[in-house]
Amino acid sequence: MTNKVDVLLGLQWGDEGKGKIVDFLAPKYDVIARFQGGANAGHTLKIDGKTYVLHLIPSGIFHENKLNIIGNGVVIDPLIFKRECDKLKEMNVNVEERLLVAKKAHLILPSHRLLDAVYEKNKGEQKIGSTLKGIGPTYTDKIGRLGLRVGDILSDDFMDKYNKLKFHHLNIASNYKFHTDDFMLDNISFTDYESQWFEAAKELKNFHLIECEHFVNELLNEGKKILAEGAQGAMLDVDFGTYPFVTSSNTISAGVCTGLGISPQKVGRVFGITKAYCTRVGAGPFPTELFDEVGDALRVNGHEFGSTTGRPRRCGWIDLVQLKYSVMINGVTDIVITKPDVMNDFSTVFMCTSYDINNTEHTYFPFDVDSKFLKPNYKDFKGWMTKLDYSKGFDKLPEEFKNYVKFLNDYLGTNLYLISTGPGREETIVC
Ligand code: GDP
Ligand code: IMO
Ligand code: MG
Repeated sequence: MTNKVDVLLGLQWGDEGKGKIVDFLAPKYDVIARFQGGANAGHTLKIDGKTYVLHLIPSGIFHENKLNIIGNGVVIDPLIFKRECDKLKEMNVNVEERLLVAKKAHLILPSHRLLDAVYEKNKGEQKIGSTLKGIGPTYTDKIGRLGLRVGDILSDDFMDKYNKLKFHHLNIASNYKFHTDDFMLDNISFTDYESQWFEAAKELKNFHLIECEHFVNELLNEGKKILAEGAQGAMLDVDFGTYPFVTSSNTISAGVCTGLGISPQKVGRVFGITKAYCTRVGAGPFPTELFDEVGDALRVNGHEFGSTTGRPRRCGWIDLVQLKYSVMINGVTDIVITKPDVMNDFSTVFMCTSYDINNTEHTYFPFDVDSKFLKPNYKDFKGWMTKLDYSKGFDKLPEEFKNYVKFLNDYLGTNLYLISTGPGREETIVC
């Protein structure tokens, strides 16, 4: 019997604490694999008091003797990849030995990033708030059958292929009256970015470039344990998120099959992670968003500023209607709750348990979440008003907190697996 791939993914709009929990779970696995997204992600790990932010590289990278895979469903900008690898090498992490990259992963060209900026600018008021890493245009080219893949770097005619695609992009940009000279990428000119990009693409050849689907299935047949690490969150999924305010990949558990090359029968446990409240960065609907001092307190206590862009995150109460929808779409078996400690000094905490839509109460997540007629209904809970001590286990936690968690878990019908009470690796309770 072959093993299955377990999955950990975000159930909200991203930034649920995936990096921390993957790092915590990594000792139980042989392999950690990213299956979608790119450097739009920012996954924070706190190990021995030091904070690290990973964008493209899986969160198992700090563990010796573990393999990390960037799967075929990921999109890679070689320069961003190189910068991240260089930082890890400075910390004596042997990245080349621990990391494998799928040949079928698509490449983000500098001109994809240019188009990302062009499209966002053109959207004006309707802009999505993209991280501008080139994610949308790269997935567009993948589906449009125009894209370039990591494996193409090895071919003799790579330059021809690159120039052809770049020319196509510049043509589109010129229709929007946009030129490369107008455009800075990470504070350098397009031309400088491009030459560094080519150097980085050359260096990418030094990594183990794999045929992900064969490799992953062979590992499973050998009895190896694999954890797939989601990026973004279910509400940013291109099919089931708050479209069009989403990212361009399938962030949900179904994305693991196409993003690593495994069959649905080979998906094992699905760990769904949620904050004890809710955040969103960028534009789009957010039914339980708070615009008052409580929202500000969540932002300040929770250090809710983007790991990738530094933007302040929008904050609000946890939304059980939205979470139940995510649990359904993902087939969540186990729930992970992070950041309840952010509300340690709240005398009352709230959960959204239904929506009023056109004056009727609903518990399903509708097509039009942004409707002016949608109003969240809340249930209040007495706050626990004390520090949550992870060291004594779940039973010793305050009763008020246990009530809160029990209600959440019963509503979702899941198995409560982990509670995180701080950013540190050790601040984690197995329930
Ligand atoms: P990810 O994208 O899902 O990996 O999440 P981010 O790293 O973008 O954001 C989560 C933030 O919360 C990071 O700054 C983490 O260090 C921090 N964090 C994770 N878990 C906890 C927790 O249980 N309590 C607190 N206070 N911070 C946490
Ligand atoms: P992690 O993995 C939070 C948001 C952006 C924007 C929208 C589209 O750290 O949870 P894109 O760059 O993909 O075109 O942006 O999605 N977004 C995220 N928000 N966490 C993330 O990743 C995100 N990745 C993208 O803010 O609203
Ligand atoms: Mg993040």
